[in-house]
Amino acid sequence: MTEQYRGAVIGAGYWGPNLVRNFRGSSDWDLVAVCDLDEARARKVIGARSTVEVETDIDRLLQRDDIDAVAIATPARTHAPLALKALAAGKHVLVEKPLADTPEAAATMVAAADEAGRVLMIDHTYCFTPAVQYIHDVVADGMLGDILYIDSVRINLGLVQPDVDVFWDLAPHDLSILDYILPGGLAPESVSANGSDPLGAGKACVGYLSMPLPGGAIAHVNVNWLSPTKIRQMVIGGSRRTLVWDDLNPQQRIAIHDRGVDLAIQAADAEEQRRAATVSYRLGDITVPALPEKEALSSMVGEFAAAIREQRAPRTDGPAGLRVLSVLDAVSHSLERGGAPVSLESVTP
Ligand SMILES: NC(=O)c1ccc[n+]([C@@H]2O[C@H](COP(=O)([O-])OP(=O)(O)OC[C@H]3O[C@@H](n4cnc5c(N)ncnc54)[C@H](O)[C@@H]3O)[C@@H](O)[C@H]2O)c1
Repeated sequence: MTEQYRGAVIGAGYWGPNLVRNFRGSSDWDLVAVCDLDEARARKVIGARSTVEVETDIDRLLQRDDIDAVAIATPARTHAPLALKALAAGKHVLVEKPLADTPEAAATMVAAADEAGRVLMIDHTYCFTPAVQYIHDVVADGMLGDILYIDSVRINLGLVQPDVDVFWDLAPHDLSILDYILPGGLAPESVSANGSDPLGAGKACVGYLSMPLPGGAIAHVNVNWLSPTKIRQMVIGGSRRTLVWDDLNPQQRIAIHDRGVDLAIQAADAEEQRRAATVSYRLGDITVPALPEKEALSSMVGEFAAAIREQRAPRTDGPAGLRVLSVLDAVSHSLERGGAPVSLESVTP
């Protein structure tokens, strides 16, 4: 039997209950406590007749020596102070996305975890879905060839959030997926973002961001709170095949198209290349892989335990959270500059 770890969830608002349910359902975990400033909220999450304890004071929670790890599901601005306290108390830490509210705060968390020799993991939930795992694997084994472009669309009628714009609300999902599937992680040289606020909400409700990727490729993300149609689609165009992921189509979540454009350049002379290039279209099969159905959060809490047990970095570690946050920060800078490209170096701490 593998060792069980004793955990606590901090924050029992909208998302915390999902973590509570998955920690409770996991054979890797013994959920000891749920902590929220609002006691009634924490009690409601654990339900009647539960042996899980309720705490309302983070310092008291962290003093307990019957807790190995905490999961933080509180508002983003509280992530860094809570995580730093937990790491200082010797706990392993799982943090909800985004890792922190600024790249500087996130970098401090990554350094503190290194120093304490504790696991710092970010809940980039999508990276634990069978679809994203599959995409990661086919990109890594070269089935798609070189990546030429990525187009990600995440639009729906969304709640206009009080504290963040549409990029900070929705794009962390796309960016964390890109970070996981791109060989070498998410490391664009620059980011350009354009947003619009056609209703006068005081923040971007519709957003487009573009990032040049190594080798001349480009990634584009479209996020939108105002669309009556919900779309969750990513197209990854490769030199050999193109993958289309439609997360709202359970019958065919992923399709791999052995179709595309080949450009045969026959002229040695660059001047003549444009005229001499012959375009041909490949019209091969479309493959639809069978994917298992498994709740992402269940795999995520399992990975948190495995990383602690094997003393290794988790699939979505602190640096992954920092990379995503650095791109979001660059997005905000680009918006302030009217969509001008912002180099990642200028925002990375
Ligand atoms: N992974 C995902 O797909 C996903 C989805 C939704 C939200 N989230 C993330 O989860 C986090 C929480 O979001 P939410 O929508 O549940 O927020 P929420 O406001 O609904 O809940 C936050 C809870 O934290 C409690 N809290 C605040 N400060 C605290 C403290 N110092 N100690 C103890 N409890 C404290 C509040 O009382 C509240 O109950 C955010 O980081 C959000 O981005 C992730």
